[in-house]
Amino acid sequence: MEQARLQILALIGSPRKGGNTDIMADEVLAGGDASGAATSKIYLDDYCVRPIADVADNSRERDDPRSDDDFPALLDRFLAADVIVWSTPVYWQGPSAQMKCFLDRMSSYFNHPDYRERFQGKGHAVLCAFGRSEPQHGDWITEPMKLTAEVLHGTYVGDVCASVYKRGKVSDMPEIIAACRELGAEAVRMMRRS
Ligand SMILES: Cc1cc2nc3c(=O)[nH]c(=O)nc-3n(C[C@H](O)[C@H](O)[C@H](O)COP(=O)(O)O)c2cc1C
Repeated sequence: MEQARLQILALIGSPRKGGNTDIMADEVLAGGDASGAATSKIYLDDYCVRPIADVADNSRERDDPRSDDDFPALLDRFLAADVIVWSTPVYWQGPSAQMKCFLDRMSSYFNHPDYRERFQGKGHAVLCAFGRSEPQHGDWITEPMKLTAEVLHGTYVGDVCASVYKRGKVSDMPEIIAACRELGAEAVRMMRRS
């Protein structure tokens, strides 16, 4: 029987289309596509995902008081994917607000009995770009996302971080472009094995 195609979804946290994290995500998706996966991309900035509201302490009992915005539709796409490519610039020592809102809003669902299992078993790949020259500035993104993969009972596929400031300049960094391509291919290999 023919195997279903692996679905890779890139979530772009930057408002800059054609920016560094957008370009890096395209390379990961191209690597996945070349390995037989189906790929898609969401620019979070194109949607209204409000910051999380006041929710219950117990994550199993939370509702989503702001579910009248675009988050539920994006969550459906997220849950349908096998691999998530979290792609965000470093903004003030953390992910962009667009990405942070998405992550926080997941809190209303990830442990809810109606959703819990659908969050589990995914692959998580992480991309980040930051203007500073110190390589450890990527840790602001990768460390929390490693924990996110764990909390969601998924697999951390890997990450690529680029020290690059100006729009689109990552295109001039062949080693980063190659690493992103390889990350897409590796995501497919890892998820097929799991
Ligand atoms: C609001 C804002 C905050 C930023 N904060 C940081 C920061 O804390 N550390 C850093 O290294 N770069 C910072 N930068 C630079 C971006 O991370 C960098 O330009 C990155 O390449 C942008 O990626 P993009 O083209 O995908 O948007 C910031 C840029 C902006 C616009």
